[in-house]
Amino acid sequence: MKALKIGNLNIPLPIIQGGMGVCVSLSGLASAVANEGGIGVISAVGIGMKEPDYKKNFREANKTALRKEIRKARQKSNGIIGANIMLAISDFDDLLRVAVEEKIDIVFVGAGLPLKNPDYLKESSTKFVPKISSARAAKLIFRHWSEKYNRVPDAVVVEGPLAGGHIGFRKKDGLIPEISLSSIVKETVNEIDFFEQKYGIEIPVIAGGGIYTGKDMFEIMSAGARAVKMGTRFVTTNECDVSDEFKQNYINCSQEDITIIDSPVGLPGRVITNDFVKQIKQGKQKPINCSWKCLKTCDYKKSQFCIAEALFNAAQGDFANGFSFAGTKAYLAEKIISVKETINQIKQEYYQEQLQLEAIKI
Ligand SMILES: Cc1cc2nc3c(=O)[nH]c(=O)nc-3n(C[C@H](O)[C@H](O)[C@H](O)COP(=O)(O)O)c2cc1C
Ligand code: SF4
Repeated sequence: MKALKIGNLNIPLPIIQGGMGVCVSLSGLASAVANEGGIGVISAVGIGMKEPDYKKNFREANKTALRKEIRKARQKSNGIIGANIMLAISDFDDLLRVAVEEKIDIVFVGAGLPLKNPDYLKESSTKFVPKISSARAAKLIFRHWSEKYNRVPDAVVVEGPLAGGHIGFRKKDGLIPEISLSSIVKETVNEIDFFEQKYGIEIPVIAGGGIYTGKDMFEIMSAGARAVKMGTRFVTTNECDVSDEFKQNYINCSQEDITIIDSPVGLPGRVITNDFVKQIKQGKQKPINCSWKCLKTCDYKKSQFCIAEALFNAAQGDFANGFSFAGTKAYLAEKIISVKETINQIKQEYYQEQLQLEAIKI
């Protein structure tokens, strides 16, 4: 496994733990992954929902909680810590600013095309990494940044249709298109090559979505990815910041339980089914108390349910009023183990696949 380099950041283990909201990946999980040599990522979405004043002052609660979690992660680890900030949230700029003020090593930005490069980011050492679902989107962002700012993002995450959480693919005939992650990775590597040449820098392409085993990791790295981003695999770890009920929900689910809903974010979302999910699929309206317009894209007057509340409730173990996001491979989870054991298993699976392939070549 080759170490990953993003600008001047040296990451010994080319594994990035995907940021998971609401309140699933906080300082506990992020610091544990960073301590193993990967990148640990705090999800900023709805991060203030645990703060006592959240309902009165949402903006401040989110800022306070993000600051606290970054500081806690720094106390627990000297490794590389990132934050995931969705472009679709109303306080994107506030939270990006807090992350930069706290000198976060890297930010991952999904759920939209990040075309702005604010001055405070330009002047910082924080690395900026967009998450996209097609080579076309990567080209658009990189060309825009190159023309407007004469620089480009530091890396790019390519996320395929098998990922947990919101998916960057529109449904066709009611289904998520079956596009292979390796083909999007190869196309993106080709597009990014132009910018690597132009700026004389390395711009790693990182792959995510449905990567669960070391075998998955080996295969996608053979297709040109320099690292992987894994969310689902890290949920069932001791250090993951979510409730035990949420982790058990992964362990108890079967492949058939993993399904797609329409999220008020305006994208499909992959979840584990339960009565709540069945009801919204039947078109039932759930009570909405939109305490503030947390999402730019959510029309709370028309929404069937509040996604922020539903995800937060599930994170606290309340599945009567919520559901968990999960990737297509969540059903593979067998038990709750430490991050160290998880990473050791992934490494073993990776090297086993590599050895088998070498044996075939001989
Ligand atoms: C429970 C859960 C919550 C997630 N929350 C977010 C989020 O808040 N923001 C985001 O950009 N991605 C989110 N994701 C996506 C992950 O960051 C990551 O890209 C994805 O999990 C990779 O696919 P995998 O789950 O198959 O490993 C979430 C994924 C899961 C499973
Ligand atoms: S209804 Fe929509 S905008 Fe309002 S809090 Fe819920 S998710 Fe956010």
